[in-house]
Amino acid sequence: MSKLEEARRYEAREENAIPADDRPLFHLTPRTGWMNDPNGLCYYQGAYHLFYQYYPYDTIWGPMHWGHAVTTDLLHWDYLPCALAPDTDADDAGCFSGTAVPAPDGRLLLLYTGVQRVGPGQDDTKQMQCLAAGDGIDFVKDAANPVIGEDLLPEGGSAVDFRDPKIWYEDGLYRCVVSTRDKTAQGSILLYESPDARHWTYRTTLDRCNGEYGKMWECPDFFPLEDRQVLIVSPQEMEATPDGEFHAGYGVVALVGRYDKAGARFTREWVQTLDSGLDFYAPQSVVAPDGRRILIGWMENWETVNRTPRRHRWFGRMSLPREAFLREGRLCLRPVRELETLWQDTLTRRETLDGDAAWEGVSGRRLDLTVTLDLAASPDCRRFTLRFAEDGCHHTDIAWDAAAATLVLDRSLCGIRQDFPNRREVPVAPRDGKLVLRLILDSDCMELFVNDGERVLSAIIETPVEADGLSLHSEGAAALDLVLHHLG
Ligand code: FRU
Repeated sequence: MSKLEEARRYEAREENAIPADDRPLFHLTPRTGWMNDPNGLCYYQGAYHLFYQYYPYDTIWGPMHWGHAVTTDLLHWDYLPCALAPDTDADDAGCFSGTAVPAPDGRLLLLYTGVQRVGPGQDDTKQMQCLAAGDGIDFVKDAANPVIGEDLLPEGGSAVDFRDPKIWYEDGLYRCVVSTRDKTAQGSILLYESPDARHWTYRTTLDRCNGEYGKMWECPDFFPLEDRQVLIVSPQEMEATPDGEFHAGYGVVALVGRYDKAGARFTREWVQTLDSGLDFYAPQSVVAPDGRRILIGWMENWETVNRTPRRHRWFGRMSLPREAFLREGRLCLRPVRELETLWQDTLTRRETLDGDAAWEGVSGRRLDLTVTLDLAASPDCRRFTLRFAEDGCHHTDIAWDAAAATLVLDRSLCGIRQDFPNRREVPVAPRDGKLVLRLILDSDCMELFVNDGERVLSAIIETPVEADGLSLHSEGAAALDLVLHHLG
């Protein structure tokens, strides 16, 4: 039996052992086993396809396959059979991350990193880019793989780290960006061009980290957004910055600027983080049929993932899909509006709070809650805290400090038993005299959208689902508007 057939049989059997309520409601988890990066996110023949880094046989990272799921509403996913297995000379050590593009002839093309074994040691591998083509379910790997070999690396590049191609088709040409780490350990983003997705030429190096924003840049994405061009990378080994914009470790960085297409020159205008939370990495984007640019990331953290307890026969999940837009010199993200189709039992309340208040009779672990703090009407408010997933022993807090203009996410008491990073502090100033906190909770995944997308903080909370209380705390009177939708 081929490796792909074996994986397909295994996942189809194992999936039955996982009860539906073992999974979040609208965050995609692997069909079985392990998931990391989103791969091949695209819109093809009337549906969104999302592939993912996949090891079906265990809940830890292993030889990478590509799992596959489809959706029409970005919330309800159906699994399709495993799309790629590491079964050729060009990818015998793994089918690493990559992307998909519908070809003009109707096929779906996958461009991914084939990891090739070149010696007996665990790390004796090279990474090169491989092509597979198919009908959206079954894919045939190109006999010429790798189609972007190490001979196409520019001077100083290295095939030890040469991965995660993002492909697109435009004006009759395929283009892709690929990340690499050169011999001085600096990440850079290479641009390639091809008439047929099989024969590629190196065009230029679009950007490089030059000692800033981490070292190796993984999983690039490159796309126009409104009147700008965005390069997204997921750096390893970031250093935190004193302004709270970047945290240490694995981050997601957006470089926003201008692109001279004819000259293939990208000029940065500003650099920002894309998610200030604890669990978000390696996002990919897709253009929806209505033109929205939608991003999905892996909602875990490489720093902690190997020590996180395994509670299910699956591990790893994707973020809620988010719509990207520019506002006032910042790339912002808001939850896709499809989420509104899950709204149920809406509760609203307007009140002035001074002290502590449980929201009587209100609880839940699947909700979309917006708290608006009207600061013009709350001159005495010094500090406001939203507490959720709460019982006598557990809770997670989102606390805003007016004098410092900072927001803290703190999950220290969520129930985690490992000494993980549990807290993030970020600058947040009121916008138009208001602070708007939108919290989306799907069992143990939380995503906070601040001031309509100017900041996002994503995190997993290891809290028993019975801990479903919500409470509000204010030092100094706070004029609040609350809108809560349960999600179902
Ligand atoms: C990022 C990453 C990619 C690589 C993949 C391997 O999370 O390290 O660079 O292709 O995961 O699973």
